[in-house]
Amino acid sequence: MSSPFSFYKSTVGKKIVMAVTGFIGVGYVMGHVCGNLLVFAGPGPLNNYAHLLKVSKAFLWGARSVLIAAVVLHVVAAYQLWRTSAESRPTEYVRWSPVNSTWASRTMRWTGPLLLIFIAFHLFHLTGGQIHPGGAFSEHDVYHNVVTGFRVWWVSVAYIAAMLALSLHMYHGVWSMFQSVGLNHPRYNGFIRHAATVVTIVVVVGFISIPVAVLLRLIS
Ligand code: HEM
Repeated sequence: MSSPFSFYKSTVGKKIVMAVTGFIGVGYVMGHVCGNLLVFAGPGPLNNYAHLLKVSKAFLWGARSVLIAAVVLHVVAAYQLWRTSAESRPTEYVRWSPVNSTWASRTMRWTGPLLLIFIAFHLFHLTGGQIHPGGAFSEHDVYHNVVTGFRVWWVSVAYIAAMLALSLHMYHGVWSMFQSVGLNHPRYNGFIRHAATVVTIVVVVGFISIPVAVLLRLIS
């Protein structure tokens, strides 16, 4: 009988791990953007929502543990797949032209690390408050932290750039998630591409609207 470890050792096993952990990440960002959009409803709704998420320590740390495990497994499997592909093709192609790849797929190895750097900065910026150039950080007033945080123009620009990296990574990630679990058929591929495009646009435009609204003083 094959163990989970021998399954993971295969390329298919690693791709399935990438798909499942990517799915958890996409689920998280979809929930996160919905929660964050409460900023447009004012300080009360956003702060109550943030407070609600922290009422149960067991729930908070349970969800955080799943998320941390998903990110670690996603990064490790991506690195191992990249190594396997590099080792199987030790010399660079003399002439290479993209046939079946998109710009999003070719930039995955850059957008992935960029998102890791963004997440580290984001945690220090809006969760811990250790890096909050907008002024005093309040542990209980998330609305205040978001508004003062994005009033600093270069912080907003950095977030918008990170969201553009997220759009490329998410678009290709959602598409290849379906390929990895075997859903690769000319009849469905068009629909999957459309679904990946719509989900990515909704999430990324939702996120970007927040720093833009703060900079335009639509939220204060
Ligand atoms: C404009 C875009 C974003 C805004 C305004 C935003 C806002 C926030 C805020 C206010 C918190 C702290 C919540 C609290 O402590 O109560 C937070 C935490 C977090 N955000 Fe974001 N976020 C954005 C984009 C993202 C993206 C794109 C990702 C992932 C790729 C992300 C991942 C996280 C994570 C992992 C946490 C920590 C959650 C925890 O405390 O366990 N955020 N975000």
